Amino acid sequence: MAELTERGMEPESGTASDQPNSALVIDGVYKGYGSDAARVSVIENFSLLALRGQFVTLIGPSGCGKTTLLRIVAGLLEVDRGTVSIFGQSVQRASAAKHIGLVPQSPALLPWRTVLDNVRLPLQVNKKPDSDGSRSHADPIAVLESFGLGHVVNRRPAQLSGGMQHRVAIARAFVFDPPILLMDEPFAAVDELTRELLRHELLSIWQANKKTVLFVTHSISEAITLSDVVVIMSANPGTIQSVIPIPLPRPRDDLVETTREFHEVERQIRLELRGSWRGAR
Ligand SMILES: Nc1ncnc2c1ncn2[C@@H]1O[C@H](COP(=O)(O)OP(=O)(O)OP(=O)(O)O)[C@@H](O)[C@H]1O
Ligand SMILES: [Mg+2]
Repeated sequence: MAELTERGMEPESGTASDQPNSALVIDGVYKGYGSDAARVSVIENFSLLALRGQFVTLIGPSGCGKTTLLRIVAGLLEVDRGTVSIFGQSVQRASAAKHIGLVPQSPALLPWRTVLDNVRLPLQVNKKPDSDGSRSHADPIAVLESFGLGHVVNRRPAQLSGGMQHRVAIARAFVFDPPILLMDEPFAAVDELTRELLRHELLSIWQANKKTVLFVTHSISEAITLSDVVVIMSANPGTIQSVIPIPLPRPRDDLVETTREFHEVERQIRLELRGSWRGAR
């Protein structure tokens, strides 16, 4: 964690990714949309290092580039400048090796497939496991049950609520069990009670297998409860405003939100976000 806060914002090209415990290294990334004169810069000089097993959360104003950044790390968008490496490999190689799982901001389920078949899809598309054969997959039905979806496995997405569709999308990413999980506001569409349950489900799954997670949320308490490090972004263009380590002990449960340490870090993040929102106007 200390390494991320002390060195993560400015990893030196060619060295940070060589660290044996680095999972994700984003180094000096720039990204814009549009062509030529109409091009608008969205992300500028974004550098971040996440260690293996770290839970890192991005928080920042709407439009600051969080989804864009996740799509870059997932290999769905190219950078204009800078580099991204995952376990010392290019995004393309990591993506081909199925090292990256993305839970997108919208669930993107196939409407003609049942819940179970949607969740099985990555396993069917990627029949061959990693070249070293070490990849284990979770049982799709067990994962669906753990997300409270055991009773809808044979329904189609249109027969589910919006929140349930989001849970299916999360379950789909967990079934394939990638070492890096990118989650774009995965709990935004669910009610508060379900959200709390899912948050704690995610915490216990993460505690058990310590994936590297890059998570996006607009909820400060969610960011603190889940993360080792919270990265605050500012907008126009999107860049890192500050990196805040979360010094709360693990494992954490819902009572963590009642502690003095929690409120101290919450205050710190709120103050930072105030500055970040000011920049977004
Ligand atoms: N395909 C695209 N073409 C042009 N502009 C885009 C495209 N995708 C995103 N943008 C713009 O890039 C900026 C960053 O968008 P992005 O979706 O990454 O923001 P975000 O931080 O995820 O926002 P939110 O919190 O609302 O989800 C926004 O101004 C958005 O309008
Ligand atoms: Mg977004």
